[in-house]
Amino acid sequence: MDKYDSLASYDRDFFIEQLQKNLDEKRFNHCLRVEAKAVQLAELFVADVSRASIAGLLHDYCKQMPDAKFIETIKQKHLNPELVEYGNGIWHGIVGAEIIADELNIHDEIILNAIRKHTVADPYMTDIDKIVFIADFIEDARDFPEVDEARKLARTSLDNAMAFEIKHTLEYLITNKKKIYPKILDSYNQWVVEDN
Ligand SMILES: [Fe+2]
Ligand SMILES: [Fe+2]
Repeated sequence: MDKYDSLASYDRDFFIEQLQKNLDEKRFNHCLRVEAKAVQLAELFVADVSRASIAGLLHDYCKQMPDAKFIETIKQKHLNPELVEYGNGIWHGIVGAEIIADELNIHDEIILNAIRKHTVADPYMTDIDKIVFIADFIEDARDFPEVDEARKLARTSLDNAMAFEIKHTLEYLITNKKKIYPKILDSYNQWVVEDN
C-alpha cells in the first residue's frame, strides 16, 4: 500500500524518508510496528485502512523534536497556552499534529485527530482515533505485564481496549507522580467510568 489516493499529497516512501530524518532507529521501527498494528485493527474492525496506516506511521513523527519548536508552534497556532506547562509526552501528539500538517502537507482531519489524541485520548474518539491509540499500546514489541490482556481485549472490542489502556495510562502517571494533562481525566470519565 504505497499510494494514499486523496488523503495525502506524498506517498509512503516520502513519509518513511522523513521519519528516518527525524527519529532514531528505535523510534522509527516503533512507528512501522504501530502502522502494521493499526492496519491489522482497521481490517479487523472494518475501518479505513489507509487512514489507519498514515496515522499509525506518522503518530510519533514529532517525538524527538526540540522543545523550542513545540513552544513556538503553540504560540504561532494559538493553541491552548497552558500546553506550554507540559512537555514532549503531551506535545508530540497535540502540537505535533500541527507540525505534521505543515511539514508533511496532511490536512485530513481524521488522520490529524488520531495523531492529536494518541497520548491522552479524548471523550470523543472515532474508530481511527481508537485504532491508533490502541495500536501504539499493543504493537508487537510492547512488553509490559498487562500487554497480553490489552491485546486480548483488542481482538474483540475497541471500546474495551480503550478503557483498559486509559485506566492503565492514568495509573502509570499517578504511580510515577507524573503531571496529568486534564484531558485524560475527561477521557477516563467517558471511557472507563462504568456508572455516572
Ligand atoms: Fe507517541
Ligand atoms: Fe508511539
